[in-house]
Amino acid sequence: MRNPVQEYLEQIVAQGGDAGGEVAPYIPELAAADPDRFALCLATVDGQVYEVGESEHRYSIQSMSKPFTYALGLHDQGIEAVARKVDVEPSGEAFNEISVSPDTGRPKNPMINAGAITASSLVAGDSGDERFARALEWYSRFAGRELELDPSIYTSELETAHRNRAIAHMLREFGILDGDPEEVLDQYIRQCSVAVDTRDLALMAATLANGGVQPRTGEQVLEPALVEHVLSVMTTCGMYDAAGDWVTAVGIPAKSGVSGGIIGVLPGQVGIAVFSPRLDPHGNSARGVALLERMSTDMELHLM
Ligand code: DON
Repeated sequence: MRNPVQEYLEQIVAQGGDAGGEVAPYIPELAAADPDRFALCLATVDGQVYEVGESEHRYSIQSMSKPFTYALGLHDQGIEAVARKVDVEPSGEAFNEISVSPDTGRPKNPMINAGAITASSLVAGDSGDERFARALEWYSRFAGRELELDPSIYTSELETAHRNRAIAHMLREFGILDGDPEEVLDQYIRQCSVAVDTRDLALMAATLANGGVQPRTGEQVLEPALVEHVLSVMTTCGMYDAAGDWVTAVGIPAKSGVSGGIIGVLPGQVGIAVFSPRLDPHGNSARGVALLERMSTDMELHLM
């Protein structure tokens, strides 16, 4: 007999189809992505993985790295030290908005680029190289395999990162970043260029769903108190200026990336990852959002 979860996932994918949108235009390597690629994976907290589509096709993690880097900053520095540098308030603005508090210079939250660049600087290490190596190793523990950088994405993004460069220098001017802002910018771009597949992302999300324990390796990667903190910020800020719509329609902590992935976390149950490169105007995968809305309704995922 076929597994009912697998059958259900195949059915909603077959019924879903195109949801419109455009691939990310501002990073040349992403603009060249095949817009029709698709994958959906669901990983349970006991390590079972369900897959539909091209679940082993690799792409860059982009902003889906942000909750994990933030988690590492919290793990390395503690909640209070991190809070002095980056707030936890939804910004209601686009992910790349040049958005900081006029009084303190603190970015609104660690999911928008300004806050994520700040979080990268809070990873323990004496240089961008050391901090990136530590972050890569950290993501790998969530995925349960050794992840690597995609050099072509990294080069492509570095050459066109004018806006993030401006943000990094502004954060330096406010004293939120110490040292050379170019070094942190480079680290952040490398972090966004880590290659993952949809299965990796489902397992990374499942680790958060499982109180910080990787379902397959059994390793406690993140402390439960920090898991709660990270999931709270994903709930309120993970989908940027669509966060309100997301929480009402889907109702689970989530994070999107401009490569076309979205991760969602149902605490105590599953990690979900979907990949479809066409984005809506908020920079979130259009087909991914539609599918997660459908799954939330059918499977009663909504936490509120
Ligand atoms: O910094 C950037 O603009 C990209 N590396 C990441 C942005 C991103 O993934 C926004 N998400 N939907």
